[in-house]
Amino acid sequence: MKEIKTKLCDSLGIKVPIIQAPLGVAVTPEFVSTVSNYGALGAMPLGTWELDRCEKMIDATLALTDKPVAANLILDWDQSARVDLCLRKGVKIIWFFWGDPSPFIEKIHAHGAQVIYTVSSADEAKRAVDMGVDIIVAQGWEAGGHILGKVATMALIPAVIDAVQGKIPVVTAGGVADGRGLAANLVLGADGAVVGTRLLSSYEANIHKSYQAKLVTAKETDTVYTQVFDKGWKNAPVRILRNSTYDNWVAAGKPDSGHRPGENDVITYYGDIPITRYSLSIPAPTMTGDVEALAHYAGQTVGLVNDVKPLTEILDEMIGDAIERIDRCQRLVL
Ligand SMILES: Cc1cc2nc3c(=O)[nH]c(=O)nc-3n(C[C@H](O)[C@H](O)[C@H](O)COP(=O)(O)O)c2cc1C
Repeated sequence: MKEIKTKLCDSLGIKVPIIQAPLGVAVTPEFVSTVSNYGALGAMPLGTWELDRCEKMIDATLALTDKPVAANLILDWDQSARVDLCLRKGVKIIWFFWGDPSPFIEKIHAHGAQVIYTVSSADEAKRAVDMGVDIIVAQGWEAGGHILGKVATMALIPAVIDAVQGKIPVVTAGGVADGRGLAANLVLGADGAVVGTRLLSSYEANIHKSYQAKLVTAKETDTVYTQVFDKGWKNAPVRILRNSTYDNWVAAGKPDSGHRPGENDVITYYGDIPITRYSLSIPAPTMTGDVEALAHYAGQTVGLVNDVKPLTEILDEMIGDAIERIDRCQRLVL
């Protein structure tokens, strides 16, 4: 059977060059371990969680897999305690997003662990190599969820690859929902891809059924890039499916915070926690109320998501199709 092997696989000890995006509450220990047991890299989204919740997630996930698993941490929050927890628990891959990872790199390496870091430009990639980062994720503007920069992957990936000069693996984030996207990024010179939106549309994803139904029917033109969903994280643009909260805010003339329509409306609850309009929260399975008004994170690849399937089937198809596409490209060369 044919396989795709890149230097990302060698660096991380994984079988296929795919990294699961850390998808917030959509991701459970079962979800992450299914991805890792398949041979891709599962990632725990610990970014902003309380330490005891992080600890439970790590323990439960590592109990379900002995394959590599990453912990994703968002550097707009102080991550010292979470880094220490991950290292103490034996997490061997720490993935940083949004900020400066340099204060942590030496310590992580001293524990025999590796650092993944997300960038959005060739200059940031160069700095990351100089800092000692082990693997770069280059995130394009078409990606779902919070987005660092404004360059789409087709232009970003070759620029980052040129900047990195083969010193460490480079992984695309954004624009990959099937084998065509994976193959195209390998042709651009990337060593693998982060996949988010496509995996939200899986049986294992812990999201509200109505969110999943929207992912299946939405077109590539149905997402917007906005900072309006900022309760919980300011100045952090996000790509979401356009919805009533966004449309009503636009119709009101895009007023600033404090003057936005329905700003203090409680839309739903996450457990006991009230979720108000413009919150960061995505629709979780048990939520009731006006769930449509919540942020539905999705990348432009949503137009390629047409069904809900088991994770392993999605990954199988992605790899199989990428192999076929690459084979077909090779036959174009006479
Ligand atoms: C629901 C959701 C939550 C996300 N949360 C995080 C996160 O906590 N940390 C992070 O580094 N990236 C996060 N991302 C961004 C992904 O890492 C990745 O860049 C993106 O999913 C790639 O684009 P795609 O969704 O079109 O595949 C999130 C994306 C989504 C869709």
